[in-house]
Amino acid sequence: VFAHLVQAPEDPILGVTVAYNKDPSPIKLNLGVGAYRTEEGKPLVLNVVRKAEQQLINDRSRIKEYLPIVGLVEFNKLSAKLILGADSPAIRENRVTTVECLSGTGSLRVGGEFLAKHYHQKTIYITQPTWGNHPKIFTLAGLSVKTYRYYDPSTRGLNFQGLLEDLGAAPPGSIVLLHACAHNPTGVDPTIQQWEQIRQLMRSKGLMPFFDSAYQGFASGSLDTDAKPIRMFVADGGECLVAQSYAKNMGLYGERVGALSIVCKSADVAGRVESQLKLVIRPMYSSPPIHGASIVAVILRDRNLFNEWTLELKAMADRIISMRKQLFEALRARGTPGDWSHIIKQIGMFTFTGLNPAQVSFMTKEYHIYMTSDGRISMAGLSSKTVPHLADSIHAAVTK
Ligand code: LMR
Repeated sequence: VFAHLVQAPEDPILGVTVAYNKDPSPIKLNLGVGAYRTEEGKPLVLNVVRKAEQQLINDRSRIKEYLPIVGLVEFNKLSAKLILGADSPAIRENRVTTVECLSGTGSLRVGGEFLAKHYHQKTIYITQPTWGNHPKIFTLAGLSVKTYRYYDPSTRGLNFQGLLEDLGAAPPGSIVLLHACAHNPTGVDPTIQQWEQIRQLMRSKGLMPFFDSAYQGFASGSLDTDAKPIRMFVADGGECLVAQSYAKNMGLYGERVGALSIVCKSADVAGRVESQLKLVIRPMYSSPPIHGASIVAVILRDRNLFNEWTLELKAMADRIISMRKQLFEALRARGTPGDWSHIIKQIGMFTFTGLNPAQVSFMTKEYHIYMTSDGRISMAGLSSKTVPHLADSIHAAVTK
């Protein structure tokens, strides 16, 4: 009965790893998926995560019962504090409901389905371009997806005027997806002053902010700095949704641990929102997994482990920033035509190089460098040893 099926294409991001794994070349380099690597090119398990796991193993009272539909309650409380700030008035006033979800993707999907069911506007505006999974998540959640201008290829920076025009023209009440920091794939973020203008425009038009926070602490090295845009929207007393992921900032990629918070106008509304979120989650996956959320809870509740985590997080962020400098210098040293200053101006895990699909495929074929066809490279996959190889390949691609 399935004989009529055509072969589906690989995922544009995860498929890059599939192709990379098949390549026998010893010089191959995977700069596709956004996953942190050490200077030795190895995946990293944070020390604090190992310590937290040890604590969990040593605790013989731990059981493997089902979690409640909303997940691990302590994890939910700590996650809301981490993203909104420990002194957030919304938390103090019990206006926030938080549910544990399957990393960023799961949080976005649960939030999307909740909005499709209960919010009066069914259109969500996403940045042009955005993470390839965003339009698929929200379409399948039952929302209609439109784009707003964001990136200006001529400056490799923000098209702020276009952004304001498009959001200004969106029907009142529309949902707007905002990347909290380290925009994926461009690495281009609004300044704080621009965020303030975005906030004023959105609030004046009653647009609903839905933040995707996948990189808190990973972009600037500071948890508070990277959460600032979200906190500005919460400080004005209005509603918003926030999807949080611990994949990158705690290196818990495969544990699939994240949270969805919905900031409401009153505690009473927040309680009813939570009851409805449970109706979205239960038929989808019943209740979330226990292990990853327990690791996060151990780290966030313990002052020493928390401090140790912030240091490890900062070290990862700093290594990425240093990769940016090294790649920029390497291209300059080669006299590679073009202005590559965007490599050091963009922030977070990715550089949006401006390389076109033909140049990308040349680099993959001739240099065994794997990246997404839109020219995005994961700076976190680079090391001092591999920078020269990447710079050679970029130089060859743009001069051929
Ligand atoms: C990425 O953009 O590479 C990451 O967010 C991983 C993913 O799931 O696509």
